[in-house]
Amino acid sequence: MQKKPYELLRESVDNCTTVTPKNKEALYDFLEHEHPGCCLFTKWDNPPIIERGKGSRIWDVDGKEYIDCITGMSSMNIGHGDERVADVMSEQYKKLSHWFDFPTPERLKLVNKLIEITPGKFEKKVLLGLSGADSIDQAIRAARYHTKRPFIISFYGGYHGANMGTLALTGKGGMHRWHNPVPAHDTCIHHFPYPYCYRCTYGKEYGTCEMQCVKAIDMLLSSCETAMANPLSNVNNLAAVIVEPYQSSSGYIMPPKEFLVELRKLADKHGFLLIFDEIQTGMGRTGKMWACEHSEVVPDIMVLGKALGGGVPMSALVARSEIFDDFAPGAASNTYAGYALGCAVANKVLEIYEIDRLVENCAKTGEYLAKVVKEYSEKHPIVGTYSQQGVYLGIEYVMDRETKEPAVAATHDICNLMRESGLLAQLNGYYGNRISFLPPITLTPLEVDEIFAIMDKVTSEVEKKYNLV
Ligand SMILES: Cc1ncc(COP(=O)(O)O)c(C=O)c1O
Repeated sequence: MQKKPYELLRESVDNCTTVTPKNKEALYDFLEHEHPGCCLFTKWDNPPIIERGKGSRIWDVDGKEYIDCITGMSSMNIGHGDERVADVMSEQYKKLSHWFDFPTPERLKLVNKLIEITPGKFEKKVLLGLSGADSIDQAIRAARYHTKRPFIISFYGGYHGANMGTLALTGKGGMHRWHNPVPAHDTCIHHFPYPYCYRCTYGKEYGTCEMQCVKAIDMLLSSCETAMANPLSNVNNLAAVIVEPYQSSSGYIMPPKEFLVELRKLADKHGFLLIFDEIQTGMGRTGKMWACEHSEVVPDIMVLGKALGGGVPMSALVARSEIFDDFAPGAASNTYAGYALGCAVANKVLEIYEIDRLVENCAKTGEYLAKVVKEYSEKHPIVGTYSQQGVYLGIEYVMDRETKEPAVAATHDICNLMRESGLLAQLNGYYGNRISFLPPITLTPLEVDEIFAIMDKVTSEVEKKYNLV
């Protein structure tokens, strides 16, 4: 009989020679008592069980120290264990932790701040949530309700959540596979290829491509041959396009700057709403507060989450006011959403961003990182390409720079060796051959050197193993 995934994982823990005692015990405990659908075994053969963190460092249950380039998937942008946040949590909890769904002073303060710091000089309204996925759900619902149209376009490789609503937008076959039958697959969702220029779906080269990735959408919306629109019959069924300004969970892939600009033009031409999912790209990681600011493009709806809560669940969508005008009392209830404790923490996090000038510092460190990663890529033939801005960094590994054959096994080895050398980053990519780095945005040039000293060593080792040097 075919073995179940958790049985195979148990065997891999049994056979792992590098796993330390308390980590091993915790991994068995996890496999015995939790469902195995978490991400940990998709990253390493020997995932560490993390017990505590401070700043950019985390420690596992056996006391091993790591540089954290995952940060709770870009949640701990301010670093771990900030005492200022801890103090606010304690004070707010004593004062008021939660009062169902109604505004509190902390919540009103946060909402006004979000309106102030998000792009767009128009009137805006905010809907708070708890997770990225629940806010994306609300964004889709609001876009459809407001436009009275059903269709949504998202992009292959995009990740917008994995609940029953957002999974239809998310283009991850690996996740769809574990639904039976196929997920609540919303029939009014269409996917288009994202501008992953290193491997352009349309076989074009950046510079001469005339942004085929946007043109393709335009061509179809201008034709009479899709259910989304038929201009000859005055039919427009497209409510919105949802897009990550940079595609994160598919490997930290950055499109050309013009991409968002062209999408905005398309939205204005065809009259659909533009939704930016800044859940991972936002909150300073790219050296600006929001990644879309690099292209100076303003969406109609922006969704944010993760780092806004600095370690507690918080998300939000910020939209043109009129998009919410049709919603009536009780339309968007969510027990904990907008809870006073989470709002107080988010307010403190945003204050820390200002006091510590986190975004400016991240941009500066990003300039240094650009130099270091360039040197690294020039030295190591296994590096096919990389994308970097601020401390947003994805590196793609190939067996041959000419053929671009994905170095899948080698990337996996690099990730495992990084873990052994005390550096945790994310294995991902369309072909499983990219590593993304999501450090706290407080990263310093000294820490960049530390990270790349490890990268240099483990990459050389792997290049030798695969006869690439
Ligand atoms: C871009 C993006 N959108 C949405 C989500 C979903 O957020 P959550 O896991 O908080 O539901 C994520 C999570 O990784 C994300 O990276």
